Amino acid sequence: MSMENQTVAGNEAIRREDRSAAEKFGVLEMPPLDYTEEVARETAHLYEKVSNHIPQIEWPVHAPYVYWINRLKKERGAVILAHNYQTPEIYHCVADFRGDSLQLAREASMVDEDIIVQCGVHFMAETSKLLNPQKTVLIPDMRAGCSLADSITGADVRLLRERYPGVPIVTYVNTSADVKAESDICCTSSNAVRVVESFESDTVLLIPDEYLAQNVANQTKKKILTWKGHCEVHERFTAEELLAYKEADPNIEIIAHPECPVEVVKVADYTGSTAGMIEYATHRKPGAKVLLVTECSMASNIEKEAPGVEFIKPCNLCPHMKRITLPKILESLVYMKEEVLVDPATAERAKQAVERMVNLKTN
Ligand code: 13P
Ligand code: SF4
Repeated sequence: MSMENQTVAGNEAIRREDRSAAEKFGVLEMPPLDYTEEVARETAHLYEKVSNHIPQIEWPVHAPYVYWINRLKKERGAVILAHNYQTPEIYHCVADFRGDSLQLAREASMVDEDIIVQCGVHFMAETSKLLNPQKTVLIPDMRAGCSLADSITGADVRLLRERYPGVPIVTYVNTSADVKAESDICCTSSNAVRVVESFESDTVLLIPDEYLAQNVANQTKKKILTWKGHCEVHERFTAEELLAYKEADPNIEIIAHPECPVEVVKVADYTGSTAGMIEYATHRKPGAKVLLVTECSMASNIEKEAPGVEFIKPCNLCPHMKRITLPKILESLVYMKEEVLVDPATAERAKQAVERMVNLKTN
């Protein structure tokens, strides 16, 4: 290729990058949302997976969305990644991959499709974009945030670095790209202890979740410094409320997420990431009673995988996760919105922190 043609091709590539997802992939017409015979037939097997949660009479409302999302997903060449806290109709009927934050980050680094629709919150979509800068990442509602991600900024992390020179900074993935860019490595709830222990330093900053940091501190000899961020869902659980369940029935097993306060984790029989909690709960013997101390869609999602296990759900909803709905996912695929973009210089540095975590041998 001549120099002139190379330049033309280069400019074309920049122009293509500059185009919005709607310009790149085109906008479609919103499909009709009738509950036709075809829709009923094509979605019947999916209804079986959510029949514990959606009454039969309501299925004709959801089914046309499920049908069209699955159809457009194929036509567009898109993949749907859904967090374990998504509602059952998203989790079981339209998601291609489901998981906790670490599993979704891993999945995002391996997808072949050009378009990723992230059914979760904004930091998860940003993580997918960091790992796939050349791909189009859509989130069905840009307002799906997170109280932990909102608790800290990149400028805060720079100040911490000045205040604690030489102390490694581990940031929970529930943070913005700006915050990740300022940190040495990321962690999730499933690998936080191992990430902290991967450093030689006796002291490690683990931010911004104060409770996760305190729970990790109880499992390592390292001195853990932290920040005052909290998950607005998990901070509401109390040890008293859980002990009251145990008092009423001592056979109940308590399974808690490490974003819960330390006193809650102390009364739990098992603590782990959402994937860890699913693994533990679904391997209980029939007759077991488990109390899931986390966002309440998760129990609805896994109930059918553990027949005979009784799930007790002290219900705390994440309002951010619940912004993602079937109608908004369909709009994403029709109009190619809302596109998640990250400043390239920030993205490069944030990506390194995420990749260090994804590639950590001990994961
Ligand atoms: P994990 O799924 O990684 O355990 O995280 C829970 C959470 O609160 C994500 O928002
Ligand atoms: Fe953030 Fe908590 Fe909601 Fe997860 S559950 S997105 S940590 S507010």
